[in-house]
Order: sequence, then C-alpha cells, then structure tokens
Amino acid sequence: MGIVAERAPANPFSPSFGTTPPLLAGRDEVLARFAEAIETGPTHPDYTLLVTGDRGTGKTALLNALEATAAERGWLTVSAAASSESLSERIAAEAVRCLEQLPGGRRRVRLGSLSVLGVGVELDPGDAIPIGSGSLTSVLEQLGEELTDARIGLLLTVDELHDVPRDDVRNVASAVQIVTRRRQRPVAFAAAALPLIEHSHLADPHMTFLQRCARAPLGPLTPEETRRALREPIVSRGSAIDDDALAEAVESTLGYPYMIQLVGFHAWRMRATTDEPISVVDIRAAIVEAEHAMVEQVAGPVWNRLSPMDRRFLVAMLQDETDSSLADIAARLDRSLQYARAYRRRLLAAGALSPVSAGRVRFRHHALRRRAQDAARDDPDLS
Ligand SMILES: Nc1ncnc2c1ncn2[C@@H]1O[C@H](COP(=O)(O)OP(=O)(O)OP(=O)(O)O)[C@@H](O)[C@H]1O
Ligand SMILES: [Mg+2]
Repeated sequence: MGIVAERAPANPFSPSFGTTPPLLAGRDEVLARFAEAIETGPTHPDYTLLVTGDRGTGKTALLNALEATAAERGWLTVSAAASSESLSERIAAEAVRCLEQLPGGRRRVRLGSLSVLGVGVELDPGDAIPIGSGSLTSVLEQLGEELTDARIGLLLTVDELHDVPRDDVRNVASAVQIVTRRRQRPVAFAAAALPLIEHSHLADPHMTFLQRCARAPLGPLTPEETRRALREPIVSRGSAIDDDALAEAVESTLGYPYMIQLVGFHAWRMRATTDEPISVVDIRAAIVEAEHAMVEQVAGPVWNRLSPMDRRFLVAMLQDETDSSLADIAARLDRSLQYARAYRRRLLAAGALSPVSAGRVRFRHHALRRRAQDAARDDPDLS
C-alpha cells in the first residue's frame, strides 16, 4: 500500500484578468436586479445593461456571473468580446448554433438560414453557416420567437465594448433594439466597457440604444466587502488570517478587486507554514508584491499608450500630494491654461485621470502615480 501524501490546499485567489474570483464580493445587488429582470421580461429596465469600470474592477467577472444567473434558469448564452472579426457576424453565427440546440432546431435553422441568406443552400449538420452582418436582426428575431415558445431566453454579453468599431456596435444595438425592445422577445443584453466609452460610443447621437441601457458602474468595494473577499476564501481552505493582518490587507487594496486578488494570492504564498494564520509580516510582504504587479499590469498598459506630452503632464502632477490644479500644471509645463485643458480632456479619455472639478484633476489610480514616479526617476527629460 502506498502512502497518500497530504497535499497542501491550493491557493484560492485568482489574480488574473477575466477569471471568476473565489468570492464575488459586492455584486449581490446588481445580480439580484438582473435576476429579477430576466424573470420579469423585456419590460424590465435591467434587461439591457451596461457595466462600466476601470481595468481590474471586475467587469468580466460580473459578466460571467450574469451568464451563470441566466444559465441557472435554463437560458442560453452567447458571449462575445471585441476582436478583429466582425462582432455582429460572430453573434449571428452563435445565434444560429443556439437555434440548432432548441428542439427541432436543425430543420428550423435550414429554413431560417435559407431565408436569411436568400440562397438555396442545403446545409449538412456541422456546416459552418455563412452569415452576413445585415442578417443579425433576422437570426435574432427567429431565435427570439423560438425562445418565447420554449419559455426561456437568451443572454447576449459583449465584453470590451469600447474596443468594438462603431459600425459594428450599431449593428448589434439595432438588432437588440428591434428584437428586445420593439418585438419584446426574450433576448437580454449585458455589455462591459471601460469608462472612456462615455466619450466615444456613448457620446454618439446614433447610439440611443446604448444610452438607454441600465447602468452598472463598478466602483471600489466597501471595506466590509473587501474583508469578506479576502477572509472567506482563506477560511474555506481551512486556513486563517490574523485580525491585524486582515485590517492592513483591506486598507492596502482600497477596495480594488484586482488588488484584492493579488494581496490574497501573495499572502497565501508568504506563510511560513500552512498551519499558521497569515500574519502582518506576511501581509506586508504580499502588499509589496501586489503593488509591483499593479504598476506593471494596471498602470503599464495605460502609460504605454500615452504620448510624451501626456506623460510630462502626469509627471508635473507629482509635486502635488492628492490632486492638482490645471493652472499649476500649465505653469509647470510653461504652457497656456487652454493647452492644459486640452491635455486634461485627452488624459480623462485615456483613463489616466479622474476629474475633481473643472480646474482640478487627480491620478485615476495610485498605481499610475507610481508608474509616473518610476518614469520620472528613470528619465530626467520628463520633469
Ligand atoms: N467582485 C469581486 N470580488 C473579488 N474579486 C473580484 C471581483 N470582481 C473581480 N475580481 C477579481 O479581480 C480581477 C479583475 O477582474 P476582471 O478581469 O473581471 O476585471 P475587468 O474589469 O474585466 O478588467 P479589464 O478591464 O482589464 O478587462 C480578477 O482577478 C477577478 O478574479
Ligand atoms: Mg475584462
């Protein structure tokens, strides 16, 4: 008889983008609203939902949870994200696959695709069905009809909506507008985007559908929610965390979901032995690791896309402790106030700054401030 080695429980935290966390904290209300919407039907305001939030605030994790909510009720789901291929074509192809799943679907798909394509093709099972973007509405209409008969629905999710080209967004929006709003078919819609979508797609007067979606802005989690998100996964794996360690961990995250996963993940790894509770010493070491990752992975992508002048603007803000006045920045850069205002707009849209008031700004995230500090140290030309 071999000896069964006792394996240490695996790290419960998930510090990577798009993954479902061990405990989805602080999202009960929006999930409940959405569950109510799909029970109620297309007249419910949350039937079409737009989730916004900075990188790492948990938009994709929330879309996953919304999909799970729909799937629990027997609904079909189609999920798409921005990519180089046409969004409407991909959704149409997935919708055809959904039609196939429904009872008697194969026959209907044939008829449906014939009418959609307007050509006499006979499709064998497993054939890829070529669908043009203009046909999305007709495929969704047919699917909506079948779903009504089957007494279920479809949840369509679109992630990274801010990155989808405008024409493509319009195609999808107009299809959902017709099928869900006008025909009252059970096709629910949930999309996620960075807040910069306010300045792009949402500012477009032809995007009425999007503008009318219910909103779920994802802000920081409360200290209590953060405590749960850190503590419960540790306890559920048979481990523990000291109260003072937990308090420091909570404070370090500022309620930012990605940071919560990073701190939890590194704290779990820092423990001297798996039997001892996580201590303040472990947490402090974990915070160093986590902040490093935040600078690289959250601030890095934003910083890399900025122009040299954008970066000089941010470096000029470092002299101020919390927020900066545009007049001061203009003086430090030796430019006009008007010039500083133009850069304020650019940097707001790039997700680098948060507005404080018309004349004041602050860093969107402390990790970006640290990124700017590192850059100023390495490149004296920036200051
Ligand atoms: N409510 C939550 N509670 C705890 N952890 C969360 C929560 N939501 C997300 N997370 C964790 O935070 C990290 C970031 O989540 P996610 O990838 O969903 O963010 P995002 O907003 O989609 O980011 P991006 O804009 O870069 O795509 C992941 O590690 C995820 O597990
Ligand atoms: Mg995401």
